[in-house]
Amino acid sequence: MLIDTHCHLDFKDFASDRQEVIKRSRAEGVGLMINVGSSLEGTLSSIEIAEKNEFIYAAAGIHPHDADNVSEADLEVLKKCFEREKVVAVGEIGLDYYRNISSKDGQKRLFTKLLDEAKARDLPVIIHNRDAHQDTLAILKDVMGGTVKGVMHCFSGDRAFLENCLGMGLFVSFTCNLTFKNADRLREIAGLVPIEMLLLETDAPFLAPQVFRGRRNEPSYVRYLAEEIARIKGLSFDQVADGTTNNAKKLFGL
Ligand code: NI
Repeated sequence: MLIDTHCHLDFKDFASDRQEVIKRSRAEGVGLMINVGSSLEGTLSSIEIAEKNEFIYAAAGIHPHDADNVSEADLEVLKKCFEREKVVAVGEIGLDYYRNISSKDGQKRLFTKLLDEAKARDLPVIIHNRDAHQDTLAILKDVMGGTVKGVMHCFSGDRAFLENCLGMGLFVSFTCNLTFKNADRLREIAGLVPIEMLLLETDAPFLAPQVFRGRRNEPSYVRYLAEEIARIKGLSFDQVADGTTNNAKKLFGL
C-alpha cells in the first residue's frame, strides 16, 4: 500500500471526475490520501472530501500566496477546522519567495501564526518553501524550538538545507518531479534522505511524472515516484512502499 500525503483533489481540475480519480487511485494501491488545503475555501472543500471518503484525510491551512488577504475572521474559521475529526495536519503553510504573490512580511506573519496554532494542538505541519530556506528555518526554530513535527513538502533545497531539516526531525517528501529527465540534482538529494524520513506525495494536479509530463497529475501516479525512489536508493518497490507508509502513519497518526 502507498500513501499520497499531499494532493489537491478539491481543485477544479477534478471537478468532472473526482470520484473516478479517487476510485482509480485506490485500485492502483493508494490506500490512503491526505487532501491538503491551500486556502480557507480549499480547506473547507478538503474536509468535505475527507468526510465523504473513509480513506482520505485532510490538512487545514492557508498558502503563503494568500497571506496578505487573510482576515481575522478567516483565521477563526480555520481554527475551527483544526478541531475536525478528519483533519490530521496544519498545511500547507510556509513561505514562497519565488512567486512573491503576498509580501514577505505578510507571509512570515501568517506562517508564524499558523505554526503557533499547530504547536498548541500538537498537530504536524506540512511546509511549503520556495526560495525561502533561511527564513523558513529561522521561523521554525523560533516558534518550534529545535524539533519540528512535520514534513518539508516538495523538497527543493540543497544538501545543507536537507541536513538542517533532518536535524530538526522533519520528514522530507518529493513529488513526481523526481522522475523528470532533468532532475539529476534532485535525485542526488533524494538519495541522501534516509528511508525512515521519506514520505511520498503527488501534489496533484501539479507535477505529473515524466511519462505524463504536462498533463494532470493524480494520486494513482504516486507509484511512479515510489519506483523512482526505489531505483535511486537501491531498494525494492515494497521496501519503499512499506517504509514511506509507516512514516506517514507515524507522522500523521493515520
Ligand atoms: Ni500543494
